[in-house]
Amino acid sequence: MKQVAVITGAASGIGRGMVERFAAEGMTVVLADIEEAPLAKLEQDLRANGANVLAVRTDVSNAEDVENLAVQTYNAYGAVHILCNNAGVVCSRPIWEHTIADWEWVLGVNLWGVIHGIRAFVPRMLSQETECHIVNTASILGLVRGPGAGIYMVSKHAVVALSETLADELVQSGSQIQVHVLCPGWVRTGILDSSRNRTDSESHHHNRNITDNRDVRAEMDAGMSPAEVADHVYNAMQSGIFYIHTHPEHKAGVQARMEDILK
Ligand SMILES: NC(=O)c1ccc[n+]([C@@H]2O[C@H](COP(=O)([O-])OP(=O)(O)OC[C@H]3O[C@@H](n4cnc5c(N)ncnc54)[C@H](O)[C@@H]3O)[C@@H](O)[C@H]2O)c1
Repeated sequence: MKQVAVITGAASGIGRGMVERFAAEGMTVVLADIEEAPLAKLEQDLRANGANVLAVRTDVSNAEDVENLAVQTYNAYGAVHILCNNAGVVCSRPIWEHTIADWEWVLGVNLWGVIHGIRAFVPRMLSQETECHIVNTASILGLVRGPGAGIYMVSKHAVVALSETLADELVQSGSQIQVHVLCPGWVRTGILDSSRNRTDSESHHHNRNITDNRDVRAEMDAGMSPAEVADHVYNAMQSGIFYIHTHPEHKAGVQARMEDILK
């Protein structure tokens, strides 16, 4: 049977990298994103290249949208073998200055998006009784500490914890679903302009610190390509790796944090 992959945040950056890699592997790919125009364009371009794809406009922070994504996917293909809960946004200010709307937006996409994905897809995957993979996109910022993007760090640490629990419980239940948590460093994507997808009343000013910071822009511009991240994800699924480290140079930060905890 042809493998079916569902990818959220599919229209840009890392999500798009995974879409292109999986399509090149001959998989059927369901593209989910909140941004309609780039989503439709990607679907059109991939189809023109002979790929089997379906785009479903989805706001991952909305449980009904994610349920609809699952319904449309299962109606079209009857199975899902790979789910990438990848959509994410960032916003940066000192943590005490963030508004409730900031917290709701970032946690809504980065954490609730993954929760909704798990709730909509895992029960359906379990009843398939086939080998499946779930790849949750966290970040190296889900494994280390540091100032500058507090809500984002909270969301990504939570995605790591959620993935660990999910993996352990699926092993305990004897299922054939493998979980992976993707923890990249800088990748060249559109994430510094995340506010393009923010619609609440505070969307006009919230992202200024991060998007206006030239050093941050320079680090991103020097980052890894999404295609290379997609290679790491593909290889991790083949070899059963849980923590996907794309930037091994950041492991020292993880070690320092762990040693600090144990002290
Ligand atoms: N770029 C990096 O350096 C980096 C590093 C570590 C982790 N990440 C993580 O990678 C993931 C992908 O981000 P990216 O860097 O490719 O950014 P990106 O902005 O290029 O892509 C994110 C995609 O998510 C979509 N999206 C935003 N809100 C959404 C919502 N509510 N529902 C559905 N889709 C939504 C956007 O439209 C966009 O297409 C995120 O979870 C991010 O936190 C990125």
